[in-house]
Amino acid sequence: MLKNKDRYIVAVVGATGAVGNEMVSILEERRFPVEQLRLFASERSEGKTMDFHGKEVPVEILTEKVFKGIDIALFSAGGDRSKEYAPAAVKSGCIVIDNSSAWRMDPEVPLVVPEVNPYDIKKHKGIIANPNCSTIQMVVALNPIHKAAKIKRVVVTTFQSVSGTGKNAIDELLNQTSDILNFKEVKPNVYPHQIAFSCLPHIDSFMEDGYTKEEIKMVNETKKILGDSSIKVTATTVRVPVFRSHSESVNIETDKKLSSNEVRALLSGASGVIVYDAPDKNLYPMPIDAVGKDEVYVGRIREDNSVKNGINIWIVSDNLRKGAALNAVQIAEKLIETA
Ligand SMILES: NC(=O)c1ccc[n+]([C@@H]2O[C@H](COP(=O)([O-])OP(=O)(O)OC[C@H]3O[C@@H](n4cnc5c(N)ncnc54)[C@H](OP(=O)(O)O)[C@@H]3O)[C@@H](O)[C@H]2O)c1
Repeated sequence: MLKNKDRYIVAVVGATGAVGNEMVSILEERRFPVEQLRLFASERSEGKTMDFHGKEVPVEILTEKVFKGIDIALFSAGGDRSKEYAPAAVKSGCIVIDNSSAWRMDPEVPLVVPEVNPYDIKKHKGIIANPNCSTIQMVVALNPIHKAAKIKRVVVTTFQSVSGTGKNAIDELLNQTSDILNFKEVKPNVYPHQIAFSCLPHIDSFMEDGYTKEEIKMVNETKKILGDSSIKVTATTVRVPVFRSHSESVNIETDKKLSSNEVRALLSGASGVIVYDAPDKNLYPMPIDAVGKDEVYVGRIREDNSVKNGINIWIVSDNLRKGAALNAVQIAEKLIETA
């Protein structure tokens, strides 16, 4: 359990990555009560430093022994590191908020989006999981609709940016775009095919039934966070040549009929949501609108007339912020509120 303190010793594991970098800035931006910040990454980052409140903080090499004295560790260094090091961190008395998929579906580990299920935080036994980026932005918008009209089924198609794969994928899109514009040959490295000027209906690995692991994460995590295993979810996840922010087309069937105006009103009053929906003025959320923002943007709200109680919405959010780093820091803020 976390001790009540004025300031905490906080670690960011995977600090040099796309999400880790964002975590450090968000801790600074939101003035999280940090007594000391410890940064960890691999041997590749030895000798690097990162700026925090105007001071250079050294990046240390991650080992099992580093966690002594650390109160809260935000993990963002991939599932294998989380599986290997999170138990050692917990043994040292540290609370882990993990961004990887390693612990999300463990029944002993709460999976938390603070706008939706903050009450689950207190059930933790040392590890709290941060959901998948596409799931987070979807459940923030689904939650008020589910509370008002009970969601029966969700059909989602995602348009996910390359920063969702990390810093090497950001470089890959940048380099491929520049190479193509300069008539140079393109070699895929991070993705199995060229991502520049294309899109890949393939995120994470394929499973025997033809779905990808990313799609199954959206199915299982949505049920766990909303606390309702009866909701049917099916997903198609697509990587698009966008640097930052994920977009989603979501079709929702509810038990009770909701008009598009009722959905607009519900979402306008929902925590963490901005309704951006004025088609007559060509206003709808786009990835460029959400970059660097904290909220989940919702637009294109309309009834699906092909079914009895259907609604279509379009959801956009910054995957590195609400989809990862911000959600983790918000969990840490809730954690210290109740310490
Ligand atoms: N990107 C997103 O939108 C997003 C959203 C939700 C969850 N996540 C999850 O967050 C995690 C990190 O993602 P990312 O996008 O930030 O990836 P990334 O940009 O590739 O960064 C990976 C980080 O992990 C560190 N790392 C790798 N191997 C390590 C090792 N053996 N020991 C210690 N540190 C090691 C890297 O350090 P070096 O710099 O030293 O290599 C780097 O700091 C992943 O689990 C991912 O699934 C990402």
